[in-house]
Amino acid sequence: MSGKTMVCGIILHPAGHTRSPAMHNAAFEASGIDASYQAFDVPPHRLGDAIRGMRGLGLRQLAVSIPHKRAVMAHLDRVDERAAAIGAVNTITLRDDALEGANTDWIGALRALEREIEPKGRRAAVLGAGGAARAVVYGLLQAGARVWVLNRTEARAEQLASELGAENSGPLEGLADLAADIIVNTTSVGLGSTISPVAAEAIPEGAVVMDAVYEPEKTQLLRDAARRGARPLAGKWMLVHQAAEQFRLWTHTEPPVNAMAEAFDIAGETRR
Ligand code: ATR
Repeated sequence: MSGKTMVCGIILHPAGHTRSPAMHNAAFEASGIDASYQAFDVPPHRLGDAIRGMRGLGLRQLAVSIPHKRAVMAHLDRVDERAAAIGAVNTITLRDDALEGANTDWIGALRALEREIEPKGRRAAVLGAGGAARAVVYGLLQAGARVWVLNRTEARAEQLASELGAENSGPLEGLADLAADIIVNTTSVGLGSTISPVAAEAIPEGAVVMDAVYEPEKTQLLRDAARRGARPLAGKWMLVHQAAEQFRLWTHTEPPVNAMAEAFDIAGETRR
């Protein structure tokens, strides 16, 4: 690092588990950009101080993760239309002394799916109705998919579907057949366990099945998908592509996606 090194980073709490610094620093290195990306552990009661600090120090870019994605909006000068619709900001840019909030989670999810399928006109089932579901549903709708939202608490699915303009909603329990071309799990079910949010028999052959849960990399849902003749897509691609879109926004440079994916894997291995 020198006096000219661009400093950026991610604010989150707790900070222990993020693989974002590894991905972004690998991207800067691969692209020959003199920048350094740090993880800042910011507890909720320090969020305002952190954002004022960003402005005070003239830090031009910060990423935002759990638990700050919604709360941070109150501290910004502008929130772009897409982030406002999703109700979450994961990217802040300081431009002409104004802090602008954006969201790259939706496009990350979309780019990840596009590795396997063109979503336009397809039938998509999104499992879950929390913050992650909002970004995924928004992305799928932008791409012209027909979206069903399925959630344990049906009322939340209904509300998300009507707010964002999804076609339908329903309960997660007791599904015999998902009958979709695209299935995305955004619930936390499967995280560090061998449980799946849906019965294996409900997964149609040929469907693209993506799991936002990325630990373990091969979740039970993805294992079931492979066994059923569906196409599993690891959740890491959502994270890699959302980071890649941040990189694009901040550097106006084509993101080195493969270098970022490799760094994501290595960061996972060194944690074990
Ligand atoms: P995030 O912002 O990561 O999406 P969230 O807003 O807490 O997190 O949402 C968690 C999602 O996982 C919700 O859809 C939740 O279902 P409910 O709305 O019914 O709570 C879902 N979820 C969590 N644990 C679950 C479980 N054991 N079975 C089914 N769904 C579960």
